[in-house]
Amino acid sequence: MSNLLEVKSLHSLYGESHVLHGVSFSLDPGQALSLMGRNGMGKTTTLKSILGLVTPRSGTVSFKGENITDLATWQRIKRDIAYVPEGRGMFHNLTVDEHLQVAARANNQGENVWDYDRVLDTFPRLKERLSNLGTQLSGGEQQMLAIGRALVTNPELLILDEATEGLAPLIRKEIWDVIRTIKDSGISTIIVDKNIQVLQGLCDRHVVLVKGKVVMNLDAEQLQSNFAEVEGYLGV
Ligand SMILES: Nc1ncnc2c1ncn2[C@@H]1O[C@H](COP(=O)(O)OP(=O)(O)O)[C@@H](O)[C@H]1O
Ligand SMILES: [Mg+2]
Repeated sequence: MSNLLEVKSLHSLYGESHVLHGVSFSLDPGQALSLMGRNGMGKTTTLKSILGLVTPRSGTVSFKGENITDLATWQRIKRDIAYVPEGRGMFHNLTVDEHLQVAARANNQGENVWDYDRVLDTFPRLKERLSNLGTQLSGGEQQMLAIGRALVTNPELLILDEATEGLAPLIRKEIWDVIRTIKDSGISTIIVDKNIQVLQGLCDRHVVLVKGKVVMNLDAEQLQSNFAEVEGYLGV
């Protein structure tokens, strides 16, 4: 089986500031991968490099066997990568309904299509808020909308950056349940989050970043046997 995503030796910089120092990892179809590390270690920069929002100085990103390193972000999105950024990125003047209508895209047909109705069934809270503006939602509802908006594009790879950050425990649990549903529906995911316990129960691979370098790349079993060491890297 070939990789869905392969990230090879990425070096990314902001001006003179060298942030990623040769980041490499890969993801198989259907897998969930956690990207862990303390604040400032380069997680978001890695995700942005995969999306083309940051242009790496060197290294490659391949998706479904195609080298996408030189493609624009919109071209990568068109190849079925979806992104839920840190901070969610609502459009201030769009309602919940409009957010989902604007993003909806029925590309893969079949039983596992994420359409407008399925997203609303998955997030009943959004159904009650259809005519509210994105900015009138609570943090948790905004996060649900951000994930829903990504899902209606029917991605093959969903990238989630700090999807549960700053949310109340009950809302977090709802978000995690949905991420589990997404995984079970066959979509591959890269998840950045601080909750190592939940990630352990959910993900097939675990990549730990320290100062822009991959210091650990573990499967689920290996995480179990190296748990204390990983916690040490995360400072928990
Ligand atoms: N737009 C930017 N301009 C300059 N430096 C940045 C920018 N974004 C992030 N950085 C720096 O790059 C490093 C990695 O940041 P980031 O990838 O956001 O880390 P993480 O997501 O792991 O918290 C940090 O030192 C951060 O201050
Ligand atoms: Mg970040």
